[in-house]
Amino acid sequence: MRTIVAGNWKMHKDKAEALALLSELVKANAGQPAGVEVVVSPPYPFLDLAVNAVKGSGIQVAAQNCHAAASGAFTGEVSVLMLKSLGVTHCIVGHSERRQYFGETDAQVAEKLRTLLFHGLAPIYCCGERREEREAGRHFHVVEAQLNEALAGLTADELERCIVAYEPVWAIGTGLNATAQQAQDMHAFIRGLLADRGAASVPVLYGGSCKPDNAAELFACPDVNGGLIGGASLDASQFSALIRIARERKA
Ligand code: 13P
Repeated sequence: MRTIVAGNWKMHKDKAEALALLSELVKANAGQPAGVEVVVSPPYPFLDLAVNAVKGSGIQVAAQNCHAAASGAFTGEVSVLMLKSLGVTHCIVGHSERRQYFGETDAQVAEKLRTLLFHGLAPIYCCGERREEREAGRHFHVVEAQLNEALAGLTADELERCIVAYEPVWAIGTGLNATAQQAQDMHAFIRGLLADRGAASVPVLYGGSCKPDNAAELFACPDVNGGLIGGASLDASQFSALIRIARERKA
């Protein structure tokens, strides 16, 4: 089973700070045994320099979003072909912040996911319930509905090229991570849904206030295949610590 630690920088860093963080990560990753896939996801303006900065280091670069169309009159948008031409290999889709603040629907997310697969990029597909949905005991139902819409009609081969990130919305940026038990229960549930579609080996990452002090427990869960990290990915020593923990846990 693959293990992945991916850093979602969100809308943070300027150019100089981005370059400094990338160079620290490249240094920290040098000479490390393979086994954990490391992905960084800087904002759009820094993707080109990120691809160049990590060349030869084994670190891969993801975008945080994309448009579903190949090109067109969509002011302010970025196409998958543009990302591909830079050497970007992954793209986050369906992050709860895109759903919440930019009104992205499951249907739009599904369309983006298909465009990414068509052009050979790996989607990092985010799903997860809101606080009130968990409190109402509807979290499994919500995540199942999200996955059903996003993954409908994909072949097992297409699914195997996806990465799923379970990010409970109440845990994102709140300092309140899911417990290992909550994460494992949901990840096992997601694994079951993927297995029903012939894709049990799709990596399922945990995201939501994942930090060096709680990662060992979370990454040790049998169905947690690493993390999608927000805040802690902005600091080279914290992000490197998370990679190290993933490596040790999955060794
Ligand atoms: P935090 O790690 O800051 O909670 O963010 C998680 C996240 O949204 C990653 O995509």
